[in-house]
Amino acid sequence: VGQDVTFAAPAAQVTVEGDPVALRRMVGNVIDNALKYGERARLALRSDAGNPRIEIDDDGAGIPETLQLRVFEPFFRAEASRNRNTGDIGLGLAAVRAMVLDHGGEIRLRNRKERGLRVEITLPLPQGA
Ligand SMILES: Nc1ncnc2c1ncn2[C@@H]1O[C@H](COP(=O)(O)OP(=O)(O)O)[C@@H](O)[C@H]1O
Ligand SMILES: [Mg+2]
Repeated sequence: VGQDVTFAAPAAQVTVEGDPVALRRMVGNVIDNALKYGERARLALRSDAGNPRIEIDDDGAGIPETLQLRVFEPFFRAEASRNRNTGDIGLGLAAVRAMVLDHGGEIRLRNRKERGLRVEITLPLPQGA
């Protein structure tokens, strides 16, 4: 779709277990944000002691630490986003978090040293792994 998105595949195989539709929406929502607020999306899939971890980085302004919990609230949009005509209403991250928790995972935000936001989604070890 002509957007600046890359994916760094892991060296070793990483197994992610979950509902494929939810996983796609989960990652898709975060990529949408990275493109809208951070110009590009850089994805990496890693293994954190066997737990699959998906990192999505961008090159935007990041999110002030004081708002990093609030952006998960339904309808919350940071000031700079309110007058953007993105057609979004602030439900993306609330839905993403619900899907992550539904999979027994965790989601964290952090501002990157360089600039931009990093979204880290860690999912549980696949059953039988
Ligand atoms: N990658 C990002 N960089 C900077 N701000 C972001 C990023 N992702 C989300 N945000 C902020 O968090 C708010 C909530 O995100 P989200 O729930 O996806 O709602 P929206 O519908 O506004 O995209 C956004 O309005 C924006 O202010
Ligand atoms: Mg969004």
